[in-house]
Amino acid sequence: MTEYSTILVETRGRVGWITLNRPDALNALNSTLATELGDAVAAFDADEEIGCIVLIGSERAFAAGADIKEMADKSVRDMTVANPFAGFAAVARARTPLVAAVSGYALGGGCELAMMCDVILAADNAKFGQPEINLGVIPGLGGTQRLTRAVGTYKAAELILTGRMMDADEAERAGLVSRIVPVSDLADEALKTAETIASKSLPVAYAAKDALQAALESGLAEGLRFESRTFASLFALDDQKEGMAAFREKRSPHFMGR
Ligand code: CAA
Repeated sequence: MTEYSTILVETRGRVGWITLNRPDALNALNSTLATELGDAVAAFDADEEIGCIVLIGSERAFAAGADIKEMADKSVRDMTVANPFAGFAAVARARTPLVAAVSGYALGGGCELAMMCDVILAADNAKFGQPEINLGVIPGLGGTQRLTRAVGTYKAAELILTGRMMDADEAERAGLVSRIVPVSDLADEALKTAETIASKSLPVAYAAKDALQAALESGLAEGLRFESRTFASLFALDDQKEGMAAFREKRSPHFMGR
């Protein structure tokens, strides 16, 4: 397996497990981490043996945002032409389901990275926020768009305009978090959730992600049409025949990924 300097990558059965690993900087997202994470996610995404990818940080921080020290002296050209965050595109466009396991700080780009995932599990010590306004900028990795869709216009506006953090309970109430777990159980719960997702049919999981994405990107009528066409197309899969046969035969399905 490729060696990286800012992340740790391993496989746990059908789960791709990526640990953000810049402990001295609370996992701040520098350009090396963005590139390495993008490469690692893309490699798992291309591997049919991987049915779910977990992103996790340390107990103290999922990620405290983009690396401010690396960014501070950049120019507009540096941030656009030589976009240091280009690697994150691979996370956002991955077809394989992603679980973010968030403990401690998920701030700025850290919160935005969690929101690129499909499921956000929060430890009870998690803290979410978009504090970019305190640095004289705005969120740059999707915060104004994904947070608004997750928690609604007014909650997102308050968080982005004040820069304040919210704890795990508030984040769950607001709809940003799928589920809260005790911090000591976070890795186990993330693995269990990822194993459950990975036990399903991979092409069906892709289809579910596509339809969920359509809910964010299209109007209701178009989204419903997309869902109904996608639903019908799944009847071409062996896994649909297997899933429904298994139900009738009162046994667990054995999905083949086709
Ligand atoms: N970038 C670079 N280094 C960071 C960092 C970041 N985002 N966050 C923390 N660090 C570093 C600190 O500089 C410190 O390093 P040194 O020991 O070398 O000084 C180390 O991590 C530990 O941090 P603190 O001593 O500050 O720890 P704390 O417990 O006192 O505070 C914190 C924790 C509240 C998270 C605080 O570190 C903090 O406010 N960090 C910045 C959060 C932030 O503003 N994030 C948004 C970044 S901009 C962005 O993300 C843009 C975008 O949308 C793409």
